[in-house]
Amino acid sequence: KITPVILCGGSGTRLWPKSRQAKPKPFIPLIGKTTLFQETLGRCNDPARFAPPTVVTGADHASHVEAQLHGSSEARLIVEPAAKNTAPAIALAALQLPEDAVMLVCPSDHHIADPDAFAEAAMTAAALAQDDWLVSFGIAATAPETGYGYLRRGEPIGDGAYRTAKFVEKPDLDRAQQFVADGGYAWNGGIFAFRAGAFLEELGRYRPEMLAAVRDAVTGGSERDRTFHPAASPFAKIEGDSIDYAVMEKTSRAAMVPVDMGWSDIGSWPALRDVLDADAEGNVASASAELVDCRNVMAVSDGPRISAIGLEDVIVVVDGDEVLVTTADGAQKVGKLSGAASQ
Ligand code: GDD
Ligand code: MG
Repeated sequence: KITPVILCGGSGTRLWPKSRQAKPKPFIPLIGKTTLFQETLGRCNDPARFAPPTVVTGADHASHVEAQLHGSSEARLIVEPAAKNTAPAIALAALQLPEDAVMLVCPSDHHIADPDAFAEAAMTAAALAQDDWLVSFGIAATAPETGYGYLRRGEPIGDGAYRTAKFVEKPDLDRAQQFVADGGYAWNGGIFAFRAGAFLEELGRYRPEMLAAVRDAVTGGSERDRTFHPAASPFAKIEGDSIDYAVMEKTSRAAMVPVDMGWSDIGSWPALRDVLDADAEGNVASASAELVDCRNVMAVSDGPRISAIGLEDVIVVVDGDEVLVTTADGAQKVGKLSGAASQ
């Protein structure tokens, strides 16, 4: 069986004012009533395929995780003493699992429209993981996004799977444009599958000091109510890094499973608008909003009524005492607003 390892960190300031430090993106209901964290759990809860999940999170998010875990009482929780990015977070989980456990590492802030396609890709990836591949999910690269990793498709290694000939994390715009034009590249979906032992071996090869520190943190850690608390002082010394830079760009065992599953990391308000149901004019509006002669407008409010006339490609978000008004293009810069920075 596959062990889901769910990562909850980061704050997602580009969805301010809804996503805030105190309640970040994975834990707010953005699409319908469930949160992205709950969607992530739900994709991995078929007991025929998946073992109970391990959730790795920071102390500031642990209460949200616990509150939203209900129904999944067998889940295991690891609470990091400090945020050191994804490589140490994944290593914490790997060191607590049997070497031969196949881990499916899932970010908790994605939307996947087709969970069946996800499950099928997960099974393909798990089979490769048993042969010691470190597997990424490849998403069709439709735009030169610089916030993603890029996977160059290499030789086939079985049904629906390829060697990753090159893994480039967050290229600059020039290179991203080349990769998209080339056609032989996919985005890294941020979902990974590998044997715990295979990941630890590669981490030890490329970042031995990081692996040693995480090991010390695990050895000195303590368990309370199915929650593991790694020792703080060895963990604090770690030089943080993501799995993408620390391992995936370097390993020679990288493989990819291309999958078309309606993937979105909902990195901005327009990206959220795109996964929500729009009306015939392309508008997405909460119940209290009145839009007249508007097109491709997103107007959501948790309180005051929004009334708008004659707007196009504009986003209005009201959350508590904050109001955001931006064009769709401008929405990429929301994280830079002083409101978002000082939340
Ligand atoms: N527990 C824990 N601790 N989780 C973390 C930490 C941490 O210190 N840092 C990040 N995470 C979680 C985030 O909450 C998110 O769910 C996931 O790990 C990925 O981290 P991001 O910070 O969102 O990474 P990214 O978006 O810059 O890049 C990654 O995802 C892209 C796809 O969305 C990379 O894997 C890219 O290659 C990829 O294209
Ligand atoms: Mg992300």
